[in-house]
Amino acid sequence: MLCKKLHHAAFRCRDAAETAAFYTEILGLKFAHAMGEDHVPSTGKYSPHVHIFFEMEDGSNIAFFECPKDPGNMKDLESPDWIQHFAFEVENVQALNEAKSRLEARGLSVVGPTNHDDIMLSIYFFDPSGHRLELTVRTCDPARAARFEMEAPKVLEIWNQTHDWSQRDKAFGSMTGYS
Ligand SMILES: [Fe+2]
Repeated sequence: MLCKKLHHAAFRCRDAAETAAFYTEILGLKFAHAMGEDHVPSTGKYSPHVHIFFEMEDGSNIAFFECPKDPGNMKDLESPDWIQHFAFEVENVQALNEAKSRLEARGLSVVGPTNHDDIMLSIYFFDPSGHRLELTVRTCDPARAARFEMEAPKVLEIWNQTHDWSQRDKAFGSMTGYS
């Protein structure tokens, strides 16, 4: 496969120092790199900014730009706020529950744990810039996950035909993955 794993996904933040404190102190990520530039390296456009990277255990990163001179918002404000989010995988359900307690003790509002198809269990909260974050644990055995993979094209086909789930029984329940 060409793409080996996530290197980084990047978002805009309102304050890099506040963001660094959140991702290192509250989520325990490694502050791996900070790049300061007056011009965007890829385009040459003038935009004084700092680009900061926070590394997870597998070497993947969540990254941010603080760009004080650029217009726009920290994130898409038109779509519902649950759509754009970043999910971190945690080791097990106990780690998820302990994280929820720690986040709430720091004054954060946490939604969940929410069960998704018995394939993952997730909690949700927001970072200081308003980005929605998810901590999730895989709760599905590999055989069942393989059935979900087999069924995914059929689920998409029904979605493309109906754009609602009035005919969901054509897919859901048709294989043991959803039963
Ligand atoms: Fe998600």
